[in-house]
Amino acid sequence: MNKVAKPTIVVATDKDHAALCTADLIHQAVSENSSAVLGLATGGTPVGVYRLLVERFQAGDLDFSDLTTFNLDEYVGLAPEHDQSYRYFMQQQLFDHVNVNRERTHVPNGLATDIEIHVAEYEKQILQAGGIDLQLLGIGNNGHIAFNEPGSAIDSRTRQVDLTDDTIEANSRFFNSAADVPRHAITMGIGTILEARRIVLMATGESKAKVVQAAIEGPAAPRNPASLLQGHVGLTFVLDPASAHLLRI
Ligand code: PGA
Repeated sequence: MNKVAKPTIVVATDKDHAALCTADLIHQAVSENSSAVLGLATGGTPVGVYRLLVERFQAGDLDFSDLTTFNLDEYVGLAPEHDQSYRYFMQQQLFDHVNVNRERTHVPNGLATDIEIHVAEYEKQILQAGGIDLQLLGIGNNGHIAFNEPGSAIDSRTRQVDLTDDTIEANSRFFNSAADVPRHAITMGIGTILEARRIVLMATGESKAKVVQAAIEGPAAPRNPASLLQGHVGLTFVLDPASAHLLRI
């Protein structure tokens, strides 16, 4: 019989506990391998995770000095110093507060002059680092993972994409207006993400409940990119009760 791997589903007691469970999974990966390669995510969801990782570093419990990191995505056209760029986010939330070697932190370059060359190089750097041991993911209201919007192919690689109107709307909360949100991004592909040894998708809040349910219990289909993770052997969802309440578990 053909056995399809089932994801591990952790339903935390609340949003803070979800951050704690996610931080514990990252902590464990680093404890197992001090030179692990971590795939990191931006957005509102992982902020509490990074806060905990910084606290654990400050307490002497975590060492980032041998780690390598790759972020999922970046807006096209934003400089690393732009306060809405994902490089800036990572510096503010994590990198500036821990002993990670900046040279081993990778975020796609939103100002790359030749994006084709840049994305091919990004894929190559991931391979040269030995692949991603643990990839952290959020999920968009439309099911996107990184900036793989609905319709993205299961074998897609790092590339430039157009953002959908609902992503622009969702992300406009961080900008002065929706008009200021970049229209394009560089994102790791779904195929790139699926090559990570472990994937931890974290979601919190009622607004994610439907899309989480569709990702886990619906058919695997490009209309919900997160559903394309189904069958990955190292997949864990960390949810709070609000985002998990439609699941039949
Ligand atoms: P959020 O974004 O964490 O800000 O909800 C998640 C995503 O769009 O992937």
